[in-house]
Amino acid sequence: MNIRPEQKTDRSAISDVTAKAFAGVEHSDQSEPQIIERLRNADALSLSLVALDGTDLIGHVAFSPVKIDGADKGWFGLGPVSVVPERQGGGIGSALIREGLKRLRSEGAAGCVVLGDSGYYPRFGFERSDDLRYEDAPAEYFMSLTFNGHARPSGKVDYHPAFTG
Ligand SMILES: CC(C)(COP(=O)(O)OP(=O)(O)OC[C@H]1O[C@@H](n2cnc3c(N)ncnc32)[C@H](O)[C@@H]1OP(=O)(O)O)[C@@H](O)C(=O)NCCC(=O)NCCS
Repeated sequence: MNIRPEQKTDRSAISDVTAKAFAGVEHSDQSEPQIIERLRNADALSLSLVALDGTDLIGHVAFSPVKIDGADKGWFGLGPVSVVPERQGGGIGSALIREGLKRLRSEGAAGCVVLGDSGYYPRFGFERSDDLRYEDAPAEYFMSLTFNGHARPSGKVDYHPAFTG
């Protein structure tokens, strides 16, 4: 498996993989492929990594800027993240997430948030905190990770408007 930043020619395969991964996922409205496209069109797809097996695109992860109390503080949001159903559970999602976090950290980001399963994301260092609030989901699903010794700010987190259309 090879992980690298997306190229123009990956775009339709990213949509396909994302649609397949989220088909039937309970908490999803299946808008994830459009979210990625809207982020890209808004120049807000800060980091977009693909996982390849040969020439087959089998996974994808997106990172985009988030605001804290309306301000840009060098924080990013992880997601959507997708692995094709037949390859899930094989470490591909973890590898994409770890590589993405490594790249964000080395580029000087202050931190990253994620909205997702509290049984999955703590393994990457994400933890719940009362300081960072996300108002559109129960607190147990919202986690954050600080980079490079940055303090965790407090405030209300907003994802990019591309997430809501
Ligand atoms: C979530 C996803 C990207 C993880 O990628 P993956 O390659 O399947 O996961 P990995 O093989 O790296 O990790 C496997 C571990 O994650 C757990 N896991 C995988 N997906 C999970 C999920 N959606 N919720 C909770 N745990 C999950 C597995 O139970 C396994 O746990 P274990 O290591 O304790 O046995 C992938 O399963 C996927 O595309 N799911 C559908 C889309 C989705 O739900 N995306 C995330 C939205 S928050």
